[in-house]
Amino acid sequence: MKKTIIKNGILVTSEKVVQEDLLIEDGKIKKIGAEIEDIDAEIIQAEGNYVFPGGVDAHTHFDLQSGIHRTVDNYYTASIAAACGGTTTIIDHLSFGPVNCSLQHRVDEYHNLASGKSVIDYSFHSVIQHVNNKILNEIDELIAEGITSFKIYMTYDFKLLDYEILQVMQKIKEVGGVLTVHAENHGIIETLRKKFISEKKIEPIFHAKSRPDYCEAEAIWRLIQLAEVIGDVSLYIVHLSSKKGLDILNYAKQNGYNNVFVETCPQYLTLTDEKYLESDGLKYVMSPPLRKKHDLNALWEGLSNNSIDVIGTDHCPFLYSTDKQDGKNDFTMCPNGVPGVEERFRLIFSEGVVKKRITLQQFVNVISTNPAKIFGLYPKKGDLKVGFDADIVIFNPNIEEKISINKLHSSADYSVYEGVNVTGRIECVLQRGNILFQKGEFRGLKGQGEFIKRSPQRKSL
Ligand code: URP
Ligand code: ZN
Repeated sequence: MKKTIIKNGILVTSEKVVQEDLLIEDGKIKKIGAEIEDIDAEIIQAEGNYVFPGGVDAHTHFDLQSGIHRTVDNYYTASIAAACGGTTTIIDHLSFGPVNCSLQHRVDEYHNLASGKSVIDYSFHSVIQHVNNKILNEIDELIAEGITSFKIYMTYDFKLLDYEILQVMQKIKEVGGVLTVHAENHGIIETLRKKFISEKKIEPIFHAKSRPDYCEAEAIWRLIQLAEVIGDVSLYIVHLSSKKGLDILNYAKQNGYNNVFVETCPQYLTLTDEKYLESDGLKYVMSPPLRKKHDLNALWEGLSNNSIDVIGTDHCPFLYSTDKQDGKNDFTMCPNGVPGVEERFRLIFSEGVVKKRITLQQFVNVISTNPAKIFGLYPKKGDLKVGFDADIVIFNPNIEEKISINKLHSSADYSVYEGVNVTGRIECVLQRGNILFQKGEFRGLKGQGEFIKRSPQRKSL
């Protein structure tokens, strides 16, 4: 039986910060306490370091076909990047499939893409791209397979209309699933894109101008109204980017709609739309787009007062040297999305905890515990507690580093955080007790990640 003791670290759980040892036996956390001894155990010294639960990134696109473009990472490269960046579990958003395809079609394709490749544990959000009785019945089947969250889009070609959203909400409420939503108003985007292109306004800044904050806010407001028809369906807003959107969510919560969870991403917390004016502005084309400083500040405020629950990355890397250049003469041709799965943990520790915008506890909650709870991975993932998987990050908070694409593991050819100074270095990452990353080296094995069956959702965090 394999045993490991992590000694003298400062354990940060979802509830407390304590200096204790942690014993791992057969991939699980067996014991937490002072001065644990076991002569058969391998010892990992963690003195002066934080010991965190492994990161859970609930928003990735690890191998995504989007129109004519495909993300540059596959499950092997992206999961190595995640592991080296302190993320031990991801929940991937599946790409759209052929017109009228079943839900199972998308899940089968992604099992094929992930199995035998992923070095970290993974699950999928199902994607609903059209609605009929067959699709609604399939939701039960996926819940039985351990896929308990369902993504819909309010824009793009496979957007759902209000009546379809209501049908999906009703079903998801019945089965105890979570409805994850990309909330942007399609009509506004289409109108503004056409207008700008006809006026020869082709530069990356017009990507941002064609998806204004009110476009996100309208979709969120409508969604909350639709949810009111159904009552108490569990909603999860992905990649919230704007103060206007957050204000609406706060209003909804203050007026009794509590079953709504909110995710933002590191890019909306650290970058603004001024990036689109730089010569490499295409690097930052993502949806929703980067916003203004007041939006960025409001999102940090939302994290600080717990009205934002999760930080996911929306890792969706296209090559700047080729794919992104397709937007050179027309921003609408640029594939949407940026890399970031490896940067999240250190960046948010540094920008959040070190800069005193959030506490250590809040850091653990938004990086690991809350996504695990919301999406039915808890009590297996998301915390340092006896009986949980030994998914662990040992973190030195005293080292300063500069983020550089040369040191990252994604196949992307750029990082939107290039040159950013971060305080904190990941020393060691374990998954189910196995070392994935240590002394700056990836040490895991291709295919050692497991598909995790999830349970239906809990009502509150
Ligand atoms: O620009 C982004 N976020 N691309 C990924 C797909 C999506 O809309 O989440
Ligand atoms: Zn996404």
